[in-house]
Amino acid sequence: MRVLGIESSCDETAAAVVDEGGRVHADVVASQIALHAPYGGVVPELASRAHLENAWPVIDAALAQAGGIERIDAVAVTAGPGLVGALLVGLSIGKAIAFARRLPLVGVDHLEGHLFAVFLDRGEPRSIPTLPFVGLLVSGGHTALYEVHAHDRLTLLGQTRDDAAGEAFDKGAKLLGLGYPGGPIVDRLARAGDARSVRFPRPMLREGSLDFSFSGLKTALARHVELHGVPEGQALADLAAAYQGAIVEVLAQKALEACAATRIPRLVLAGGVAANAGLRARAAALAGERGVSLFVPELASCTDNAAMIAYVGALSLASGRSDASDLAPYSRAREIRRGKIVAPSRRAGR
Ligand code: KG4
Ligand code: ZN
Repeated sequence: MRVLGIESSCDETAAAVVDEGGRVHADVVASQIALHAPYGGVVPELASRAHLENAWPVIDAALAQAGGIERIDAVAVTAGPGLVGALLVGLSIGKAIAFARRLPLVGVDHLEGHLFAVFLDRGEPRSIPTLPFVGLLVSGGHTALYEVHAHDRLTLLGQTRDDAAGEAFDKGAKLLGLGYPGGPIVDRLARAGDARSVRFPRPMLREGSLDFSFSGLKTALARHVELHGVPEGQALADLAAAYQGAIVEVLAQKALEACAATRIPRLVLAGGVAANAGLRARAAALAGERGVSLFVPELASCTDNAAMIAYVGALSLASGRSDASDLAPYSRAREIRRGKIVAPSRRAGR
């Protein structure tokens, strides 16, 4: 079964074709980074308009790469969480294609997409986890730890109480005048820096909780800049490395604590921040020490893409689910309660 996936929850317009084995036949992403960069963050109304302009060319390109619409068996589209206006664009087009071609339609949760991106097969050799696994989902909007039993059976183990890890990168980079989005820029700078140059706090590390908090860290960086100004050259690289080091240490330590608490020796990194070289290296080192196998998606599978949406769509369809034309967007994260698996409400227009 080949599924056309459509993703438009935030600032990437994406379409992909993936089969139920996770093989990626086409994957096209139109980024809006340049559009939002002057504002230092995503402007929802601009995002919706850009999705409208980009969606059909992106979908046409993905279909052309995968041999045409005739070879598509179903349509999967991100239903939430995300910006409502942005989600509506993808959903409307997904519904139209499914209706016109009489294809099954399935709404996909963006977070489930990220957590299952590790299974995507882009033609490179890769190792994939068995279920269950512990998933560390770190993106611009979310930072959470899950026990993952199936694409639709997740238990929340902990989550951020304020900023997401990606937000901590982006806001920190803004304070340093580095541009948007800050994560990849800080990552690049940090490679040449000394993380021990400045001592930043490790928020909530020794509190026996799997929750996170990054807003204090951002404040610590703001205070540092107030006192010392924004450095240049090597000192800037050192500051970036120290700031990244604090974020990464908390993420990696807590992820391994989650593996110990659940006795699941498999850890998956997911979301845009999983592209971070420092996080990959620290998680690999700690996992090695503690007998945990680490699985990391390829870079193209970490940041927002439609291949992960198509793949979870294929899993949903295989488990017998399909949605009707009243599929509606939802903006907040679904209600997955700590320690309890709660079925998502996919149709409620929240
Ligand atoms: O998953 P994603 O593409 O979109 C959301 O669902 O939010 O994640 C975007 C976030 C941004 O905050 C971006 O700065 C961060 O991921 N990011 C990184 C890296 N690449 C992207 N953060 C740190 N290091 C990176 N290499
Ligand atoms: Zn995302």
